[in-house]
Amino acid sequence: MKIRPRRLRKSEAIRKMVRETSVSTSDLIMPFFIMEGENIKNEIPSMPGIYQLSIDKFIVELKRVAEAGILGVMLFGVPSNKDEMGSGAYSAEGIVQRALREAKPKFKNLVFIADVCLCEYTSHGHCGVLVGDKVDNDPTLPLLAKSAVSLAEAGADIVAPSDMMDGRIKYIRKELDKSGHTMVNIMAYSVKYSSSLYSPFRDAADSAPAFGDRKTYQMDPANSKEALKVAEIDVRSGADFIIVKPAMLYLDIVSKVSGSINLPVAAYNISGEYAMVKAAAAMGWIDEKKVVEETLLSIKRAGAKLIITYHALDYAKWLKEGSIGN
Ligand code: PBG
Ligand code: ZN
Repeated sequence: MKIRPRRLRKSEAIRKMVRETSVSTSDLIMPFFIMEGENIKNEIPSMPGIYQLSIDKFIVELKRVAEAGILGVMLFGVPSNKDEMGSGAYSAEGIVQRALREAKPKFKNLVFIADVCLCEYTSHGHCGVLVGDKVDNDPTLPLLAKSAVSLAEAGADIVAPSDMMDGRIKYIRKELDKSGHTMVNIMAYSVKYSSSLYSPFRDAADSAPAFGDRKTYQMDPANSKEALKVAEIDVRSGADFIIVKPAMLYLDIVSKVSGSINLPVAAYNISGEYAMVKAAAAMGWIDEKKVVEETLLSIKRAGAKLIITYHALDYAKWLKEGSIGN
């Protein structure tokens, strides 16, 4: 036999020499859920190892993040009060705004990414303003932009709109610029599917819609062409990063989008994906470390530069102690 593919697999050293993809801590973004109060660290039952944190406890976690070599964190708010218009999302005293004002000066080198959406703050749990029982696109845009500006004012380096209203990237970019935040980046959830795997997140953020679903604004899982369409719109509207979400069940989309868009792509390894791995590992059915390593590698191999993942801190710890990455 002249050609023997196994020759390139014959030793660990050779395998390492020809390995094409690796995941380093600088590729990872760790999400956090911030709530009112003090000394609070509530574990989310459907997301073992992930907590709702009061600001003081969040600061403690940020120290671990920085020490682990993770560069970015993504913040979601769990407010104590909700209303019809989601005013907590754009109040200077909003929970994420307060967290940013405390945390950013203490961790200047960390990249703070603030989620922009109304669902955590509205009494009805939808991502936009309701007119009757419909989520109305255009009246939502000024509220999202107000939220982005107030988060930028509070210290966010990047704002990440996850609401899926049409036209919001352009609107937010314009309002950020008008208010002097020309260097605040937009990480756009351009390609966000209406997935059944968001439910643990909705436990964590208390953001499940009170009625109906999100299918009139999030994308249909059956579609692929639409992914490029919406990503291209956001590129033209001034996005700096494009998010594809979820990640594991949508690797074809990650590949397609990163292959044709000239911006860094971030894939969101979402709560339900995390929950499935944790549950199977807890049953002793899979090896958690190996499965997480393979998962992140697959997402990177598909073309994502960044991975937003609840495994980020664990992965960084395992890398450091040498129990993976060999
Ligand atoms: C809401 C939002 C969701 C997530 C991030 N922002 C879920 C939803 O659409 O209800 C999901 C993240 C995850 O599941 O980890 N704007
Ligand atoms: Zn939302």
